[in-house]
Amino acid sequence: MRQFRGRAAIPITVTFAAARPDEPHALLIPARKGSLPDEYLGGDDEAALRRAASGSRFEGESGAIVELFGEKGRIMLAGAGAADADQGLEKAGGAAAAKLLKSGEELLAIDASGIDAPEAGPRVAFGALQRAWMHEVYRTTLKPKQKTSLKRIVIVNASSEDQAAWPRYEHLAAGIALARELVTEPPNVIHPIGFVERVRGPLEKLGVSIETLDGPAMLELGMGALMGVAQGSINDPRLLVMRWDGTRGKATKPLALVGKGVTFDTGGISIKPAAGMEDMKFDMGGAAAIAGAFRALAGRKAKCHVVGVCGLVENMPSATAQRPSDVVTTMSGKTVEVINTDAEGRLVLCDALTWVQEKHGPETIVDLATLTGAMIISLGYEHGGIFANDDALADQLLAAGKASGDPLWRQPLGEAYDKLIDSPIADMKNIGPREAGSITAAQFLKRFIDDGVKWAHLDIAGMVWAKTATSLWDKGATGYGVRLLERFVRDNFDG
Ligand code: BES
Ligand code: MN
Ligand code: ZN
Repeated sequence: MRQFRGRAAIPITVTFAAARPDEPHALLIPARKGSLPDEYLGGDDEAALRRAASGSRFEGESGAIVELFGEKGRIMLAGAGAADADQGLEKAGGAAAAKLLKSGEELLAIDASGIDAPEAGPRVAFGALQRAWMHEVYRTTLKPKQKTSLKRIVIVNASSEDQAAWPRYEHLAAGIALARELVTEPPNVIHPIGFVERVRGPLEKLGVSIETLDGPAMLELGMGALMGVAQGSINDPRLLVMRWDGTRGKATKPLALVGKGVTFDTGGISIKPAAGMEDMKFDMGGAAAIAGAFRALAGRKAKCHVVGVCGLVENMPSATAQRPSDVVTTMSGKTVEVINTDAEGRLVLCDALTWVQEKHGPETIVDLATLTGAMIISLGYEHGGIFANDDALADQLLAAGKASGDPLWRQPLGEAYDKLIDSPIADMKNIGPREAGSITAAQFLKRFIDDGVKWAHLDIAGMVWAKTATSLWDKGATGYGVRLLERFVRDNFDG
C-alpha cells in the first residue's frame, strides 16, 4: 500500500529588497544583548518600542522577543545575544519565526542593518527557515487557523556581500530540512528503499551521483554483519553510496562520511521494551545527516570530493532473524559473536566502513550514528560524543561543531576498553559490559579502520530528536549533523 502522502518542505521563500515593502508585513529587528539598536529604531513607533522593551524586561538575550503593533503593523525586537553568543542571530530569526508561523502574517521583513556583523541578515533569515520547517503531510484535518501563514521573508537594507552569501544558507537550510524529513517520516515509509528513493531526486538533480547495493550484492561482497541484521526483515537492505566531486578530479582521495541508517530498530530478538520503542524510527539519523550534508554541499557546488555511505537496514525479530550467539563473518574477514541483536548499529557500520576503505581509499572517515543509549547517559541532549584516532581531526570536528551549533564533546578510546569486546569463540563480540557502553561500541568500529586512516566516530544518539522545542527547531527532528558536516567540510576540505 502506498502510504507516502507528499513532501515536507520549508514553505518559505527568501528575497532581498532595498527597503520595507508596501504590502502588509511584520518587521523583525534583531538586537544585541544590552543595547537597543538606536540608530535604526527610528520612526513613529520608537517610543512605543522602547516602552515595550523596558516593560517586558527585554535585554536582547538570545531568542527573547518583544512584539507590538505599530502604525504599519507588527514589529518584533528579537534578542541576538552578546556579539560572541553562539548562533545568536540565527536564534533571533528562529524565535521570531516560531511566533509568526501561524500568526496570520504572510510576509516577514528582516532589517539587521543595525547589527555590526557579517551576513547578519542572512543569518537571521537562516534561523527563521530552520525554525519554520514542519512536517504536516499526514495531518488531514487542520483548520485554516492551524495552518502555516508565513510564506515569504524579505531581507531589507542588506549589503551586496550579504546577498551574495545567501545561497549557502539557503542550501544548508534545505539540507537540514531533508535530514529532518527523513527522520520524521515513519518507518513504513522510510524503509531502506524508501530512504534511497526519498534522497535520490533532490540529490541527483544537483549532480550527486547515487549508487546502491541491494541485499544479494552485499551478500556477494561478504557483508555478513550488515546482512545478519537485515535478515530478520522483509524490507530488503540497501547500501546507499552518494558521491560529490566538486574538485573535478583534483582531489583523488575523497573524504568519506559513513552513516548508520537503521530505519527502525526493534532490537531484533533481543527486543526492546514497548514503551518508547516508537522513537527508534530516528535510528537512521546519522544516515539522514549525511544525506542532508550532501544536499547542502552539492547545492552550493562545494569544491570538495566527498563520498557518503549509508548502511540502510531494518532490525526486526522474526523467524529469519539472527539469534544471540550467532557468529557472523564481516566483509573484512573478521568474525563477530552477536551477543545482543540490539547492538546492531556497529554491525551495520563495520561492513560499510570496510566497503568504503576498499572501494574509495579515503584518508579521512567520519561516521555518524545513533549508536548507544549510554551516550545519552553521558552527555544528555547537549553534545554529541566524538571518538577519534587522530587529535587534529578531532579538533577540526570540535571546532566545526561549536561554530555551527551542532556541538560535540570528545570521548576516550584505549586498549583496556578494546579488550572488553574480545570473544571466546570469535574475533570479537558485539557488546561489552554495561559500563562504558559508548566507548566499547567505538572500539568495535575502530577494529575495522585500516592503519593510517584518520577516523572519527560521532555518537549522536541524543541529538537527532528533541523532546522540547528550541529557537531553531520544534520538538521532533533536529537535523543535527548537517550544519556540523557542512562547516567541517567548508573549513577543511573546500579547496
Ligand atoms: N539505536 C540504539 C541506541 C539508541 C538508544 C539511540 C536510545 C537513541 C536512543 C542502539 O542500536 C542500541 O540499541 N544500543 C544498545 C546497545 C546495547 C545492547 C549494548 C543500547 O544502547 O542499549
Ligand atoms: Mn539497537
Ligand atoms: Zn540502533
